[in-house]
Amino acid sequence: MCGIVGYIGEQDATDIIVEGLRKLEYRGYDSAGVAVLKDGRTEIRRAVGKLRNLDKALVERPLTGSVGIGHTRWATHGRPAEQNAHPHAVDGITVVHNGIIENYLELRHRLVQRDRRFSSETDTEIMAHLVAEHAARGLGFVDAVRAALTEVRGAYAFVILSEREPDKIITAKNASPIVIGYGENAEENYVASDIPALLAHTRTFTFLNDGEMAVLSKSGVVVTTLDGQPIEAKVKRVDWSPVMAEKGGHKHFMHKEIFEQPTAIADTIRGRVIMEEARVHLEGMELGDVNRLQRLVITACGTSYHAGLVGKFMIEQIARLPVEVDLASEFRYRQPVIDETTGLLAISQSGETADTLAAIKEGKRHGAPVFAVCNVIESSIARECTGSGGVMYTHAGPEIGVASTKAFTTQLVALHLLAIHLGRERGILDRATAQEMLTNLREVPKQIETMLNREASLVAVARRYAKSKDVLYLGRGPNYPIALEGALKLKEISYIHAEGYAAGEMKHGPIALIDENLPTVAIATQGDAYEKTVSNLEEVRARDGKLIIIASEGDSKIAAIADDVFIVPRNQPLIDPILTVVPLQLLAYHIADINGTDVDQPRNLAKSVTVE
Ligand code: F6R
Repeated sequence: MCGIVGYIGEQDATDIIVEGLRKLEYRGYDSAGVAVLKDGRTEIRRAVGKLRNLDKALVERPLTGSVGIGHTRWATHGRPAEQNAHPHAVDGITVVHNGIIENYLELRHRLVQRDRRFSSETDTEIMAHLVAEHAARGLGFVDAVRAALTEVRGAYAFVILSEREPDKIITAKNASPIVIGYGENAEENYVASDIPALLAHTRTFTFLNDGEMAVLSKSGVVVTTLDGQPIEAKVKRVDWSPVMAEKGGHKHFMHKEIFEQPTAIADTIRGRVIMEEARVHLEGMELGDVNRLQRLVITACGTSYHAGLVGKFMIEQIARLPVEVDLASEFRYRQPVIDETTGLLAISQSGETADTLAAIKEGKRHGAPVFAVCNVIESSIARECTGSGGVMYTHAGPEIGVASTKAFTTQLVALHLLAIHLGRERGILDRATAQEMLTNLREVPKQIETMLNREASLVAVARRYAKSKDVLYLGRGPNYPIALEGALKLKEISYIHAEGYAAGEMKHGPIALIDENLPTVAIATQGDAYEKTVSNLEEVRARDGKLIIIASEGDSKIAAIADDVFIVPRNQPLIDPILTVVPLQLLAYHIADINGTDVDQPRNLAKSVTVE
């Protein structure tokens, strides 16, 4: 979950590294640090807290040099403190690391017995000691790193410098992402955890695979396996512009990303619909003969899990294929019943979530074909599925705000396309109905646009409820997961306790909470469950509960029971969730903004959860 940037070339490394880390701060922000090599000596600056504290440290004591590495941390081993901030240096070897060294205690014990002194509580410092020990017994930098790597177990992305060989940066990867960026106009090369860190400098990348390492110099990059076998690195052009990773005039990335949804959704649909034939082209996803699949199991975490819950409604109703949805963190611990007739579909924005990745590996172990709906290209989950069931990319562009917004709605669109594809391939969905569904889906970007234009009304609602202690979210059918998602958005960025419930479950417990101090946000759009949902809301009203209702255009009755109403455009019930979530995102955003919390980087969270 940490962010790494490294640079080797002719320019000032510190600026490039710190600017890159700023784009990765969403990955962790407990502390940050930079190490630069100059005249064969390493100098390090580190600071606890956000990157701005490191900025200050660098103003007080600047670093110059054209080779360096930097890190922004999300604490795993060792509390957030300067001594635990990366980089960690031992005898001229300097290391930054993302991941967890699982045999850390055993290695540390052994190193202490050999009189090695530790200056941090981290697992990372182990690696610096191991490389330093191998170098001390005469191995060159590359061989010393290679030898050290045979001793560590776990998930890692390491980036390492050596004072003795200052013309190199070495990186190695296992289960944590590393991308190498090639200098386009000068003799220089880059390494980072994620593309946005390097977009200002290059669009040409190699994504390292697990079990690979790379040696970067000014003039080139050599990729090998960990034991030194040469590998021909695949070089990719990525067409994200640097502006896509900037705030573009919005106060927060989250706000920008909410407003990017019309474009992002259009990008998810683009090139995938063959309207005349009413067919969907899934691009990288290769389902093969869909009739061999007797069911699908969707696995994901957090917001992506909520997308999976909506996906179940879409796929079961449109394609009549049974779907189960499992939290990835639970999936592999419950001895799941899966085999080659079960399609395992992972949903992940980052493509790096450790639990989801592990669930996919578990599925493969049982012979299940594995598929992914993913945003980040060439991410670990995407690559794990390539060659099995493949990947459908959402094309939402970089999502930087920790709270997921455009990734979620584009996941819903991708799942809807998948449902239509399955429905057609299974012979369930006729051409005319599929065409109507696809036409309706194409309406979504415009419909979201109209809601975004009415943002001001949600700011007013946010002001009224910003000081609430708890908020209840209710929905039914495919809008039940949207109630869960609305509650998650509010709690993660405003720290207000919120719970999502299926509206029909109210009377089985949560109704006891209702009084004039508990606002309820309810989704009551037109559809099969409308009348029943309204009855549930009447029950809230009768107990003096405050009601904020998301209703469909043309609903003239709802205002009578609501304190506040937000109208969403009409579409099909299965497309409704893609619309109803938007006001909930905006409501959560404005409540958090009014309360002055750190919207893009809420406390204790990180964008990409690469630890289990
Ligand atoms: C919430 C949020 C998280 C992620 C979850 C899975 O706003 O962003 O709950 O959805 O950590 O992440 P991905 O989709 O990257 O696997």
